[in-house]
Amino acid sequence: MTIPVYPETSVALKGRKGLIVGIANEQSIAWGCARAFRALGADLAVTYLNEKARKHVEPLARELEAPIVMPLDVSIPGQMEDVFERIRREWGQLDFVVHSIAFSPKEALHGRVVDVQREGFLTTMDVSCWSFIRMAHLAEPLMKNGGTLFTMTYYGSQMVVENYNIMGVAKAALESAVRYIAAEVGPKGIRVHAISPGPLATRAASGIPEFDELMAKAQAKAPTRSLVSIDDVGKAVAFLSLDGARLMTGDTIYIDGGYHIID
Ligand SMILES: NC(=O)c1ccc[n+]([C@@H]2O[C@H](COP(=O)([O-])OP(=O)(O)OC[C@H]3O[C@@H](n4cnc5c(N)ncnc54)[C@H](O)[C@@H]3O)[C@@H](O)[C@H]2O)c1
Repeated sequence: MTIPVYPETSVALKGRKGLIVGIANEQSIAWGCARAFRALGADLAVTYLNEKARKHVEPLARELEAPIVMPLDVSIPGQMEDVFERIRREWGQLDFVVHSIAFSPKEALHGRVVDVQREGFLTTMDVSCWSFIRMAHLAEPLMKNGGTLFTMTYYGSQMVVENYNIMGVAKAALESAVRYIAAEVGPKGIRVHAISPGPLATRAASGIPEFDELMAKAQAKAPTRSLVSIDDVGKAVAFLSLDGARLMTGDTIYIDGGYHIID
């Protein structure tokens, strides 16, 4: 038996093309993912929410040497199609997508699930779940050599986590969508993962009341006794896009120091 030769790490994804959606700032999980993919040599397309976000995202996109930087608010009809059309024109292919976005209006997120109004529910589901389904639909024809689709979820989909409320319902739907889409696109060599990080202090997390308590509990209860960083998430996601992970698909993968296995 000989020891296998792995490609040199820094070029493991050289020539691969990826779309990163969800960078707001240097704390964003999507930024951790983008950095890890770039470290492995991938070329990246990056989106920003709107003009206000642009000035925060553009310097980061420059660091990534991203050749495609475009606006994308998934609630504006046509913007997502424009992003994929540009990728088709410039690259003609896509190897991975990171969907790292979620949103729920304050009045929906902060109330009980049983009290949620239709509009708040639909907005939460639209931005946090349907946008991933649509992204997978648009990515499929570009993933001619197979590919990997990632979305970010959270443990509050499986368990009742205080203050996570309607977002837990949306994440449960998202995780289910991952399974269905994985089954549908698997024959084409496209793999799909829901990534479930432990709590991280990001802009999105600041909308959840008593988030500091959640962080403290995560650190105390997780077998590793450590909090997760965006680099921890990025490295794991980059690994999952390598050929070495080619038979992994459809799962919710926890990057939480083992928190979810403890009662
Ligand atoms: N922070 C955590 O503790 C944690 C834990 C598990 C999962 N997640 C998930 O990770 C993902 C990324 O969040 P984050 O924590 O990095 O926070 P973040 O605030 O850095 O990222 C959220 C992103 O969503 C984008 N977004 C919101 N509405 C949008 C819209 N209509 N169109 C396009 N983009 C929109 C924002 O612009 C932002 O870039 C989310 O899905 C979140 O639920 C976060």
